[in-house]
Amino acid sequence: MDFNYIFLQEFGYILAAILFIFGLKMLGQESSAARGNLVSSIGMFLAILVTVTNIINPILVLVAILLGGSIGALFALRVKMTSIPEMVALFNGFGGLSSFFLAWSEFTSTSEINILILITSLTVFIGGVTFSGSVIAFLKLSESLKSSPVFLDKFSRVFLITSFIYLGFFTVTVLLDLFNFGPNLLAVNDGFIVLLIVSILAGIFFVLPIGGGDMPVVISLLNSLSGVAAAFAGIVISNTALIVAGCLVGASGLVLTLIMAKSMNRSLYNIFFVGYAAPKGDAQEVSGEVKPISAEDSFLILESASSVLVVPGYGMAVAQAQHVVKELGDLLEENGCEINFGIHPVAGRMPGHMNVLLAEANVPYDNLLEPKDINPKMSTVDVVLVIGANDVVNPSATEQPGSPIYGMPIIEVHKAKTVIILKRSMSSGFAGVQNPLFFKENSRMLFGDAKESISKLVAEFKD
Ligand code: TAP
Repeated sequence: MDFNYIFLQEFGYILAAILFIFGLKMLGQESSAARGNLVSSIGMFLAILVTVTNIINPILVLVAILLGGSIGALFALRVKMTSIPEMVALFNGFGGLSSFFLAWSEFTSTSEINILILITSLTVFIGGVTFSGSVIAFLKLSESLKSSPVFLDKFSRVFLITSFIYLGFFTVTVLLDLFNFGPNLLAVNDGFIVLLIVSILAGIFFVLPIGGGDMPVVISLLNSLSGVAAAFAGIVISNTALIVAGCLVGASGLVLTLIMAKSMNRSLYNIFFVGYAAPKGDAQEVSGEVKPISAEDSFLILESASSVLVVPGYGMAVAQAQHVVKELGDLLEENGCEINFGIHPVAGRMPGHMNVLLAEANVPYDNLLEPKDINPKMSTVDVVLVIGANDVVNPSATEQPGSPIYGMPIIEVHKAKTVIILKRSMSSGFAGVQNPLFFKENSRMLFGDAKESISKLVAEFKD
């Protein structure tokens, strides 16, 4: 390859990396997010173009891109909004699988043991874990795989530890072989084949014992791991664009994982290896009386309110109530009421779940407030409409030290003048914890499907 070509190729990759970084930065703000997506896509197109021109059989690669791209696009177009976490899980898995195959093929084409084999082995290990772990996460989220028996959970933990010990053992084997320190513990080739199998099994046994509800956090971590595997694969084949893109995915996935854990006030260890604890002592006991309210009476309260805060949760996604929520918000505004939306970072079942739904219904981004912005002003809010949210407004997180969610930051709706909670029954939310909010003096329960209840309120306003 002549010098000019290598220079052009590296220049193309650096340009692509700059576009990735700027695109990612632009995703941080709603006003520039769509352009950010486009900028990153142009970067990826450039990286592909540069790579393809360097391949002996570009037609084969272009056909593969076209085929894979069409299948991906078909899936993405058909997927329901509530199934997006499952699709993301699968896509992460395929990212891991491609790094796994790439490193495997590099290993088989290497004629002598060199230090790069350690990176190749790490790529295979992380790629394999990401692939099989993502498939299990997909099966759990789609409820094709229920929780596993306790003995299998214990075995899974033991296997996971064993697989790390094996990775260490294999690393030592390679180093011994490399520096000609005998005895050769295991032929490196055979050891590598075992590593391929161990990595796939480690992914299965890592995710198997984790509860279905914690899958979004697992998926975010697997997303990060798919980036790390890609970055290592980039080192193996000396591809700058792959290294940069992999690092960006790895770092942003990790940041997202930590944000989710912090929003639930749980450590990563607790999420991945413990799960939600059962409530202690009298943490489940609540005092007070449940006061149901009709849609007609809720309308009268809302009609006379001068400030309303909507706090949506998973139930709004289930009911697909976002469009009627927007309609109700508009009617309240026409009535001279100030309307805002309180968005908890882990409301729903995936990061940004509520933001995406409300954006789909054209709710202005400026009306979305974070807990830290809304909580100090809560006592001045006339009415809070809690729409299918439960855990994220559960005051036991601040009031009951024995509660499994004690310490989780919440939207403190119980401090508002009146709270109307829209849900179908008295059942608990994702964490399985009773909610004392429903029994508070200023709370009213508007029972029923959220979309139907809000449609009734909208009809009352229009009458
Ligand atoms: P949840 O606490 O899960 O509560 C949702 C409520 O919606 C349920 O109590 C349910 O009560 C109600 N509901 C369901 N379908 C409904 C419908 N059609 N109409 C009206 N109500 C309906 O939700 P949340 O407050 O959004 O909290 C999210 C939870 O998920 C937190 O515990 C969080 O830690 C966890 N989590 C979130 C994430 C991310 S990234 N968002 C990731 C992992 C875990 P009924 O059955 O009585 O209607």
